[in-house]
Amino acid sequence: MYIRPRRNRKSAAVRFHAQETHLHVGQLIYPLFLYDGKNIKQEVPSLPGNYRWSLDQLIPEVEACLKLGITTFVLFPAVEESLKDKVASYSYAEDNFYLHAIYTLKQKFPECCIMTDVAMDPYSSDGHDGFVLNGQIMNDETLPILAKMSVAQAQAGADILGPSDMMDGRVGFMREALDDAGYNNVSIMSYTAKYASAFYGPFRDALDSAPKAGDKKTYQMNPANKQEALLEAQLDMQEGADYLMVKPALPYLDIIHLLKENCDVPIAAYNVSGECAMLIAACQNGWLDFEKAMPEMLMSIKRAGADVILTYFAKAYAEMLAQGKGFKG
Ligand code: PBG
Repeated sequence: MYIRPRRNRKSAAVRFHAQETHLHVGQLIYPLFLYDGKNIKQEVPSLPGNYRWSLDQLIPEVEACLKLGITTFVLFPAVEESLKDKVASYSYAEDNFYLHAIYTLKQKFPECCIMTDVAMDPYSSDGHDGFVLNGQIMNDETLPILAKMSVAQAQAGADILGPSDMMDGRVGFMREALDDAGYNNVSIMSYTAKYASAFYGPFRDALDSAPKAGDKKTYQMNPANKQEALLEAQLDMQEGADYLMVKPALPYLDIIHLLKENCDVPIAAYNVSGECAMLIAACQNGWLDFEKAMPEMLMSIKRAGADVILTYFAKAYAEMLAQGKGFKG
């Protein structure tokens, strides 16, 4: 045998020479849940190690993450039920605590890259991502609401907007509204192939944002579909998306690969709450080793073709790297 693939696996040094994929902390985006008020750091029961933060508590947390090399955060608001209505008007209200938090974080840490969530569900009394009329999710009536939310977030200082609603035409609609308001430098990371998945449970617990009636199957994609992701990707690129996202990540590695092969903008993948909760639960039971399984999970998403990964493990991964651990091939 002249060719022995095992030779390139013979030691840690040689394995590293031959390693095809690398994952840097700068390629991770850390999701954080925000709560109005003071002195709040409330663990999400179904997502241990993740919290709902009030801004005063969040500031030192963001500072610690920046020190670890995390550059980018995606923020989600947990909104009180009394502030929710049919048209998500709180999402662009003057006194909105989420917009205030974005503004404050950008003032304190100008180098930190802030991504926002553009969708009605945290603010909607129906718990849907679109305007609901007679039980129907109204697409075109939702777009102006998303546009107002987008401009308000850009005004607050957001660097990247993340439309997670899956309404048709929203990227182009948002782009036009942002450009008209003078925010042509604000990026859009579109949730391009967002599936009607069962893996969003802990996130909806964190935000109390589960739909009050029905499900999200008329707007989020059918988990059985692949070709359709290409149509969504084409439309988002035509409409001006700067990044395309696949969500969830692990059960959809084929979709990440498909978009990476076919699209000329960076591909993001959202390692969603349910994927992370599943791993945490197995580790808490002693069935898996967190320090080995978690980096392998992130590496597989990277290998599939993701340029950036949104993950609740961003801080844990950065801490491991800081301790000289990280992924070991
Ligand atoms: C909704 C939104 C969801 C997530 C991000 N934005 C949930 C949903 O569609 O119901 C889920 C993220 C996660 O599970 O980590 N706009």
